[in-house]
Amino acid sequence: MKGIILAGGTGTRLLPLTAVTSKQLLPVYDRPMIFYPLNTLIQAGIKDILIIVAPDHSGHFLNLLGSMFQKFGVNISFMVQKQPRGLAEAYVLAEDFIDGEATTLILGDNIFENDFSEAIQTFQGGGRIFAKEVSDPERFGVVELGTDREVLSIEEKPEQPKSRLAIVGIYIFDAAVVEAAKGLTPSARGELEITDLQKHYLDQGKLDVRTVEGAWFDTGTYESLFEASAYAREHRFSERFHPMVNDALGEFNAEFKKIVSLKK
Ligand code: G1P
Repeated sequence: MKGIILAGGTGTRLLPLTAVTSKQLLPVYDRPMIFYPLNTLIQAGIKDILIIVAPDHSGHFLNLLGSMFQKFGVNISFMVQKQPRGLAEAYVLAEDFIDGEATTLILGDNIFENDFSEAIQTFQGGGRIFAKEVSDPERFGVVELGTDREVLSIEEKPEQPKSRLAIVGIYIFDAAVVEAAKGLTPSARGELEITDLQKHYLDQGKLDVRTVEGAWFDTGTYESLFEASAYAREHRFSERFHPMVNDALGEFNAEFKKIVSLKK
């Protein structure tokens, strides 16, 4: 299983916070945002992770994460997405990285309390997505389920949502996702939609939907960014990170301080 974190985009909704760095490096309480999706993947045992970033602040990601996990056996690589053409483009860009394996893709601005280890480790093939009941489903991809939990419909940001189940920003697909993504046509807003990929798997009878326990934040607005920080602080999220993530961070901080004191 490979892991991809999608950390591209321009973050215009969060200006001026995103004027000098990337949205996914903004603080969520005591950690840069990217550590939350990174932890979700590492917790599930994924050791090969590609981070897709926008060109403007790409160096910031490298400075922070370029060698942090090297000695911990987690291989992190980077790719620049020159123009944001939709979430599903990640699979086209990452074809060589995916190299015929299954992939868990997580959006760099999605923060989960849920542990996805079991769902990732038991994945056999096809597609697996996750849903959570929300009060504002029109902001998200929305899935409608039947009485036997079968998927009835999937829609991207519908004006009149058929359910309150938002599709959250973590997706598991088998290797066929690359060809499926290449076959997509851009939506009315000119993007390759991740929900169209989900529909592709649904049409083939290969899509499985699970519900997400615990808190979930899509930190694309000032409010949700603030709420995520408050929740992370109150619930001690970072203390519950995989020990390897916190060890790697501890070593990074120590090294950083050493270099600062040598410069004095
Ligand atoms: C994206 C997806 C949407 C999903 C959401 C989760 O929307 O297109 O289907 O529900 O992420 O955060 P975005 O937030 O990029 O507009």
